[in-house]
Amino acid sequence: MNQTTKTMNHTRYTFDETEGKARQSEAIELSTAPAMIEVKNVSKVFGKKGEVQTQVLNGANLQVRKGEFVSLMGASGSGKSTLLYLIGGLDREFDGEIDLCGQSIGKMKEKKLSEVRLSKIGFIFQFYNLVQNLSVEDNIMLPSLVAGRSRASLKKELDEILEITGLTAKRKSMPSKLSGGQQQRVAIARAIIGHPEIILADEATGNLDSKAGDEIMELFRKLNREKGITILQVTHSNACAEYGTRTVVLKNGKTLEEKNC
Ligand SMILES: Nc1ncnc2c1ncn2[C@@H]1O[C@H](COP(=O)(O)OP(=O)(O)OP(=O)(O)O)[C@@H](O)[C@H]1O
Ligand SMILES: [Mg+2]
Repeated sequence: MNQTTKTMNHTRYTFDETEGKARQSEAIELSTAPAMIEVKNVSKVFGKKGEVQTQVLNGANLQVRKGEFVSLMGASGSGKSTLLYLIGGLDREFDGEIDLCGQSIGKMKEKKLSEVRLSKIGFIFQFYNLVQNLSVEDNIMLPSLVAGRSRASLKKELDEILEITGLTAKRKSMPSKLSGGQQQRVAIARAIIGHPEIILADEATGNLDSKAGDEIMELFRKLNREKGITILQVTHSNACAEYGTRTVVLKNGKTLEEKNC
């Protein structure tokens, strides 16, 4: 009996050590990968001069390298969504510099920024933002159709993405007939059909129970590990943050403090 326990303990120890080494070498590899997102000394104030102003970010810095899966945490109102929107080019008014794949988005013309957004970024929101009178597959294809792709040219990618996100059986359903977790998977499928290099997710599991939330996190992990997609997610949940490779905390709108997972 003792022997078995000992052996089990030993086996477990060996397993932990191997896993630890694998994690260590993964961390070293990630720490030398090229930067996909660079936030340099970024400040953001809401409100016009002379009116009530809110300083949300004040000299924030963040670097996310290729292949990383970073969780951005912080108190409500600390500016997490604001920062994510700035990185995604959805809000262009800020001081400082933000680079996506080595290109500064502050200096880009609107047309060029739209192209970068469409080709490099998949944005996932807390409230799914699906078009209610379009089916699952039409919702997924929508951005690509708007960008000029034909339905026929999207068929193969659509089939693959429905498979990855576990939505094949629901492809003809309307969003109102889906659970919250399924709707979020449609939003993820829509975000990845354009082959983004980066996923920006703002509390993707905020509206889901923990089981559905875990499924979304598993999907993110798979997209990160198997497709090499770099992920920056905002989350309030430690459990969700632990799926990532690193956690960053936004505090007082001023500093970005990192803690090792
Ligand atoms: N359009 C806006 N106009 C004025 N103030 C704004 C605007 N958007 C956000 N704010 C303010 O900026 C601050 C940061 O908001 P933000 O939404 O980025 O916080 P958050 O960290 O994402 O919070 P939560 O965890 O609750 O989602 C808040 O004080 C908010 O009231
Ligand atoms: Mg927010």
